[in-house]
Amino acid sequence: MPFLSILLSTLLTILIPPLLFLTWYLHVPRAFPNLPRIPIYVSILGLWSSMGQDEIYERWFRAPLEEHGAVVVWFAGRWSILVSRPDWLTDMFRNEQLYAKAGSQIKIPHAVIATLVGDNIINAHGENWRLYTGIMKAGLQKKVFETTSLLKQSRKLVDALTNRQKETGGNRSILVNDDVQKWAVDVMGENFLDLELKSLGQPNGTVRIESLQSIIKATLFKPMYFSFPDLDHFSWLLPSRKRAYNIMNEFDNRLYAKIMTMLQNRNETDPEEMVSHMLGSAYKTGLITEKQLRDNLKITFLTAHENAQQLITSMFWQLGTRVDIQDRLRDEILTTAKMHSDPSQEIINSLPYLTAVVLELLRLFPPVCQLINRVALQPAMLGGELPIARGTFVGWNAWAVHSNPAVWGDDAREFRAERWGESVEEMQGRFRRETVRGTYIPFNAHKRKCLGQGFALLQVKILLFVLLGRVSWVVDPGYKLKMTPGGILAPLGCRVILTELKS
Ligand code: HEM
Repeated sequence: MPFLSILLSTLLTILIPPLLFLTWYLHVPRAFPNLPRIPIYVSILGLWSSMGQDEIYERWFRAPLEEHGAVVVWFAGRWSILVSRPDWLTDMFRNEQLYAKAGSQIKIPHAVIATLVGDNIINAHGENWRLYTGIMKAGLQKKVFETTSLLKQSRKLVDALTNRQKETGGNRSILVNDDVQKWAVDVMGENFLDLELKSLGQPNGTVRIESLQSIIKATLFKPMYFSFPDLDHFSWLLPSRKRAYNIMNEFDNRLYAKIMTMLQNRNETDPEEMVSHMLGSAYKTGLITEKQLRDNLKITFLTAHENAQQLITSMFWQLGTRVDIQDRLRDEILTTAKMHSDPSQEIINSLPYLTAVVLELLRLFPPVCQLINRVALQPAMLGGELPIARGTFVGWNAWAVHSNPAVWGDDAREFRAERWGESVEEMQGRFRRETVRGTYIPFNAHKRKCLGQGFALLQVKILLFVLLGRVSWVVDPGYKLKMTPGGILAPLGCRVILTELKS
């Protein structure tokens, strides 16, 4: 008996402090509104399950979000409020002074992800955001983007894919992901950073800064560290986390070195205005620090390639399972290509079905699917209805809005490009209206909406123009769609069989 009671009290002495700590660490703050709570294990499901984001959404999120418009969810080390009701989202996006951007550099500055992105134009607030926008905006929103380089890169991608198909054999499928990433990285380099990275057409790993991107993505979305970034405090104990910091630092240093070399060799009379030139000049004149230069270069590199990359992977899946859409789009493209083999921006933007397909792809596969990167600076009442305590993190889920039948009708989850209208003007009008209302948010909305939207739409349309003009494809019948588990909504890999069109 004394032995048992000694054992029991020893066990209690050992267990009680960690249990008390966990209870404190994991408790939902009392000031949170009365909303359904997503069980915490859903945030680390990836540890034992291979469920994709779409399956996780259907199983745990759809019903409470569609009924209540918001849920309480564990995200990046704290309970936060995830919103899907369009009028509440509009309130959040309009009132950036109240629901202020607060990315990982504020929330978890010690973490691997904060080392990667730092303080940048996307996640900064107030003075810093104004400073970065003042420097970079003109380079991100050039009125006319040169289509020659986009056409050239798109042709290179189609060459790479058709060569791969020839090497593999006509009846076996090829994986598109690696070439799509290389295309996206090369396009970003040429259009925003004045870097010719030339990764497309080269074996994997040849251009280290490009192949690092796959390692970075895999590192960031490790479920345990993504959901409990406080574990990064113990990186000195965890070799895999030490490696994660090393990878982020390698990317930082490589990019900085490349940009510095480019800037030194640059002909100052060259009129081409690039984000990297603008950031370089701001650094030279002391407007920004070296760290701010590095952080904004990295975010430009990341955001200007990975969203287009994910969207194109989704496009291969969607159009490869719906050959009817491909055929209709190909008709429009081939008719135009007869007169305009090297179409200008105006010609590309005048094609109605192409416009509708891209808008519909962004609705069903929003690459930036979920973000929780805003904090209430004051006690607030979201949409005049939902009390939000000061210091609470709030965010949004685009798939929740775009796939809600109450918002987009009973066919919300179906690909129906026709819903956008007949003419390009009608489509653009609907695009603008839905964005303002918070019902279509692939690029976010209002004050902090995407500054690369115009370029991204053009880039994707040009690729489709070139691709559909040269090949048709079907998704490998043996390939089962699996969506990514992380914050990006796209197929994990897409296997297709390509056939070159007869000219
Ligand atoms: C399909 C492609 C793209 C998608 C889906 C997309 C989506 C988004 C989204 C959802 C946001 C808001 C992020 C937030 O709320 O924190 C955003 C912001 C931003 N995006 Fe994009 N983006 C794309 C391409 C690009 C490109 C090519 C660039 C060029 C560098 C770019 C530059 C930016 C910038 C600078 C911001 C921050 C705007 C601000 O806060 O003032 N994006 N993007």
